Amino acid sequence: MNFPGAAVALLAAAFGFSAPAARAESGDPARGEIVFAAGNCTSCHTDLKNKGPLLAGGRPLQTPFGVFFGPNITRDPVHGIGRWSDDDFVRAMRKGLSPRGEAYFPAFPYPAFTGLTDQDLRDLKAYIFTLPPVPQPNKPHQASFPFNLRLGAAVWKLIYFREGPMVPDPERDAAWNRGRYLVEAAGHCGECHTQRDRLGGLKRAMWMAGSADGAEGKPAPNITPDKDTGIGNWKESDLVYFLETATLPDGDVAGGLMAEVIRYGTGRLSAEDRKAIAAYLRTLKPVVNKIQKAAK
Ligand code: HEC
Ligand code: HEC
Repeated sequence: MNFPGAAVALLAAAFGFSAPAARAESGDPARGEIVFAAGNCTSCHTDLKNKGPLLAGGRPLQTPFGVFFGPNITRDPVHGIGRWSDDDFVRAMRKGLSPRGEAYFPAFPYPAFTGLTDQDLRDLKAYIFTLPPVPQPNKPHQASFPFNLRLGAAVWKLIYFREGPMVPDPERDAAWNRGRYLVEAAGHCGECHTQRDRLGGLKRAMWMAGSADGAEGKPAPNITPDKDTGIGNWKESDLVYFLETATLPDGDVAGGLMAEVIRYGTGRLSAEDRKAIAAYLRTLKPVVNKIQKAAK
């Protein structure tokens, strides 16, 4: 028997450290930290309001179909994803399927994350596995029929889900492709900034043209380059500054969910990545759609 090893294990147990349940198989955590920010995993998987532990879940997400709770995605082996292999993680993000083969509800924005590359997904998992495990049980979702059924989610996927990864457009330069990747795949901006139909599918013709009842029932503005109803009058530098500081060109500050997107997401990216996002948004098709601002 290896006494020093056993002593270390005992000490670790005494101090509440669990043995690493799974290795970071092939990912690079430093690169993964960037994907983590780009996808703003923090917001939905942390009970920010009650200052809950990072990624331990419990955050309620209001949708027209009921309340979904972001689950624990720490590397805790019992309550989190500590026992997941890299392949389990890639399947969840790419295909919207759990390790048991059940369909996830699209309150989890895998319809966007499916666009992430395999390497980025492996790096992302490696980064998450450097964060502390938290033994906090998940809360059951409170959605209404049929949106509470995994089978319903499977049918939804058949109608709306298109599996990635995103393929770069060879006609465009690297910065545009990076911007598209950050906006459409990682940043899942369209999930809030696009109207949905009655079954919760995104209306492609209204892509990024805003949603009167976006996430949590709050309006998300039109961010296409339409001059009257979108952000066509913003300079690229306005947009870059906004994505770092949440300050609008008129000096006002974005609140609610967008403040979170910036605080845990775009504000933690490199200046170059924010510039790529801004430049890409300016190449979207302008769509006329007036969204009333939320009362403050
Ligand atoms: C808009 C909110 C939202 C964001 C942003 C989000 N998630 Fe989730 N995620 C959810 C919800 C809700 C579920 C539960 C889905 C279900 O039960 O079908 C979930 C489920 C998961 C699961 C499956 C967990 C399990 O126990 O089966 C993983 C893994 C996951 N998310 C990883 C991530 C990562 C990594 C990011 C950042 C790139 C991220 N999520 C960003 C809402 C979100
Ligand atoms: C979770 C939902 C959500 C996501 C995801 C999201 N946004 Fe927003 N966004 C909002 C809301 C809500 C507002 C309005 C905030 C306010 O009025 O204070 C907003 C405001 C904005 C504005 C200001 C527009 C204006 O006319 O005032 C811009 C620009 C913007 N978002 C860009 C983005 C980009 C780029 C992404 C992806 C990286 C993104 N958003 C992702 C919800 C979201």
